Amino acid sequence: MKERKLGYAVLGLGIGMAHADAAYTSANADLVAVCDLDQARLQKAGKKYKDVTLYTDFEALLKDPRVDIISICLPSAMHADFAVRAMEAGKHVLVEKPLDITPERAALIEEARARTGMTCGVVHQNRFNANMYPIREAIDSGKLGKLILGTFGVKWYREQSYYDNGGWRGTWEMDGGGSLMNQAVHTVDLMQWLMGDVESVTSTMGIYDHDIKTEDMTASLVKFKSGAAATFVSTTCAYPGISTEIMLYGTGGSIEADADTLKVWKMKNAPDEEAEEAEMLSLYGGGNLEVLSHEPRRLFGHAHVVEDMILAVRDGRDPEVMPAEALKAVKIVCAVYESARTGKTVHF
Ligand SMILES: NC(=O)c1ccc[n+]([C@@H]2O[C@H](COP(=O)([O-])OP(=O)(O)OC[C@H]3O[C@@H](n4cnc5c(N)ncnc54)[C@H](O)[C@@H]3O)[C@@H](O)[C@H]2O)c1
Repeated sequence: MKERKLGYAVLGLGIGMAHADAAYTSANADLVAVCDLDQARLQKAGKKYKDVTLYTDFEALLKDPRVDIISICLPSAMHADFAVRAMEAGKHVLVEKPLDITPERAALIEEARARTGMTCGVVHQNRFNANMYPIREAIDSGKLGKLILGTFGVKWYREQSYYDNGGWRGTWEMDGGGSLMNQAVHTVDLMQWLMGDVESVTSTMGIYDHDIKTEDMTASLVKFKSGAAATFVSTTCAYPGISTEIMLYGTGGSIEADADTLKVWKMKNAPDEEAEEAEMLSLYGGGNLEVLSHEPRRLFGHAHVVEDMILAVRDGRDPEVMPAEALKAVKIVCAVYESARTGKTVHF
């Protein structure tokens, strides 16, 4: 008998459409259902995907026996509630970032995963950018030496209309913050993944160029348990959107990147420093799209994360980013906000 493919469903059809696209084109799953309260978005998905059931009621989605995996793509403060209910109903879940907007709520997802035994992954897709593999490898192998300093900068731009659209963005209640919790949480995740556990943060924040309640700029001094330090800045005021800087300096050398693109690779102990940098920049200096042109079967972004989730369920293994990992970024973001509010250093 032919084995049934895994049934995939998507809850929330904003960025959820990227999840639906990935599930629809996956060879290892069938996109069987989508769910949203917004009829226009639902009908658009119904037109785009053949044989997909359209739900407005999450409880009805949970009762659909064809659904094995649900991507939770709702406003950030709704993640824990819906992810926990899905796992309790016997569904595996892939949760959009941030895991939720407080460490307490985000921890409920990890608790439900452990209790129900369902598979739960989190979308931190930037870990799988082309340039992250060699950077992580340079750290793990000791090539970069002992880490001394990191500088991280998420210098993005968002028009006021971005915050007005949807109503939940830039609010403490639903977004949990602004430029840091929403846009820069990916880079916070990369910072802790590359540099290790955080010991303390000392931060400032403000609202400079938007009519919102949270922040559109944060600046932090981060100290790590290893003794290393970093600066971390985030903003949605850097017109027209400048860069995502990830810069690491160790006793063995220096690496600088902008988002998925490697910019600087200087290794003290390389047999031929210039030749090694030229080779690394030719491989990883063009970003994901350049690497895709050499390796067309490689996936990045949401396609990679959704496929990893599907294969994790199929093969009974953990997905690449688990809730306990994603919880670390939520804790760091909330510590930055606490430090900025109180004017005091927050220790972990
Ligand atoms: N990984 C990434 O790069 C990335 C990019 C964008 C957004 N996100 C995250 O994805 C999440 C969603 O963001 P978005 O930009 O798609 O938001 P959005 O507002 O565009 O979409 C959310 C959708 O959820 C629907 N919804 C709300 N309550 C519902 C309910 N009870 N039942 C069914 N549907 C419901 C809304 O109608 C809306 O269509 C956020 O947590 C955001 O941080 C991640």
